[in-house]
Amino acid sequence: MSFDNKKLLAVKDLATTFHTAGGDLPAVGGVSFDMESNQTIGIVGESGSGKTVLSRTIMGLQQRTNVTVTGSVLLSGFEMVGASEDEKRERWGTEVAMIFQDPMTSLNPVMKVGKQIDETLRVRLGMSKADAKARAIELLELVGIPSPQYRYDAYPGQLSGGMRQRVVIAISLACSPKLLLADEPTTGLDVTIQAQILNLLEELKERLEMSVILVTHDLGVVATRTSRIIVMYAGRIVEIGSTREVFAHHRMPYTRALLESSPKVSNASHTRLTTIPGRPPNLLKLTQGCSFAPRCSYATEKCHVDRPELEAADEPGHMFACWNPLPKTRRTVKK
Ligand SMILES: Nc1ncnc2c1ncn2[C@@H]1O[C@H](COP(=O)(O)OP(=O)(O)O)[C@@H](O)[C@H]1O
Ligand SMILES: [Mg+2]
Repeated sequence: MSFDNKKLLAVKDLATTFHTAGGDLPAVGGVSFDMESNQTIGIVGESGSGKTVLSRTIMGLQQRTNVTVTGSVLLSGFEMVGASEDEKRERWGTEVAMIFQDPMTSLNPVMKVGKQIDETLRVRLGMSKADAKARAIELLELVGIPSPQYRYDAYPGQLSGGMRQRVVIAISLACSPKLLLADEPTTGLDVTIQAQILNLLEELKERLEMSVILVTHDLGVVATRTSRIIVMYAGRIVEIGSTREVFAHHRMPYTRALLESSPKVSNASHTRLTTIPGRPPNLLKLTQGCSFAPRCSYATEKCHVDRPELEAADEPGHMFACWNPLPKTRRTVKK
């Protein structure tokens, strides 16, 4: 078997199943994709589609019991699935770091923000107290916090939501990760602050030569900021391709429904957020067919009994899983 050591990330047949009182819950089922260095890719999908569980599984951050992970996550050639806590810890922060969905809970409310950055630097990089403080101030400056030497002594509660998220980003960058997983990094922030944080991530990616996985339920967030998009439903990839192709020539009806439910970035505050009709699937009772079939106006009998696998669309790298895909849209011929 050959595997490409140069790939930053190669995920293959990754599945995460929680063993719950109600039965086995396949939160992620058979996900495969890979990623080169210096890219930003997006993972999108409705709430509950498995984005956070997939991100945490890639990090190797799972609860210790009642969960089974199978498949492979190669991070710069190192297998994270089945690795020991020590082996994973060696890579957290340096190879891969994650910004969690809720910035409020990732900060300690009773500890000065500067100290929270210091701690990471001292524990992970073995820095002296003075060096860690100097570096922490540099990091606060890097993420655009004004007067960083004063903010160093602030408590999280003394900062605005946007500033707190900047602190969370500073902590994630402390050990210069090659890959940053940003799980809904702007959810809960108001629209102008959202744009600022997303711009900051983009700028940091360029400056620090990082790669970023931007995880969001909102296609508007990834539209202009990613080169590739992974669309998830019920724990699986249902469409994947270059961002341009997925926006312009998507074939999976669910992708279209997501696009239609996304507020337009340009006038987000004036657009009402619609939701996709029907209910997200119950993962404890998945049928053999396409999980989206019960909500899909194109579904036929086959869709309810037979699950479609990903198949190639026109553009290389563009794939979709659907028995009755949307018709190909007309391409403008370049002259
Ligand atoms: N620790 C857990 N135990 C059992 N089920 C879980 C656990 N974590 C997540 N899930 C379930 O896995 C599914 C995917 O969740 P999640 O990855 O958080 O979705 P998303 O991030 O796309 O909103 C959901 O049905 C959720 O209820
Ligand atoms: Mg989530």
